[in-house]
Amino acid sequence: MALEMDTEMKHLLSLLLLLVTGAAAQAQTADPALLAQGQGLYATNCAACHGANLQGQPDWKRRLATGRMPAPPHDVTGHTWHHSDRDLFNLTKLGVAVVMGDGYESDMPAFGGKLSDNEINAVLAYIKSTWPARAQEAQAKITAADAAAQP
Ligand code: HEC
Repeated sequence: MALEMDTEMKHLLSLLLLLVTGAAAQAQTADPALLAQGQGLYATNCAACHGANLQGQPDWKRRLATGRMPAPPHDVTGHTWHHSDRDLFNLTKLGVAVVMGDGYESDMPAFGGKLSDNEINAVLAYIKSTWPARAQEAQAKITAADAAAQP
């Protein structure tokens, strides 16, 4: 019984620690070279659909005639910041259809064959750097909770 309690406490403590350090790490992402690389990669690979100013496609909440969803904004008005780092990485590397599975159809391509893992991380770091601190902190907490939930 005491042992069980101990393990649970340890788990809780490490979760708390993750939440705190996750938020702190987020605040330090501003490596200018990484962000500049990410900005360039964004302009070349993402802006055509997600918008030069990360504003998304017009009327992005309404399904297209094809039945697929338009590209959402990557700025704070979208829901990119509701996803953990792991989810954002997978959505970009594998494409939305693969991540959703179940025959879900999507216009979001997989960038795994086009961008290296480091390049994907640079683009995501750039996108994140455009969010206000409050959204960055919220997303860092989602990332920390997701990491803690991994086996
Ligand atoms: C050909 C158009 C197109 C390009 C180019 C494109 N995307 Fe997308 N992206 C989409 C569409 C459309 C969606 C919405 C997919 C859906 O909901 O089915 C999307 C969704 C996403 C999502 C999920 C967002 C969320 O809040 O659910 C992420 C992350 C993403 N894109 C990242 C990127 C990144 C990073 C790049 C550049 C490396 C990129 N996309 C380039 C069309 C595109």
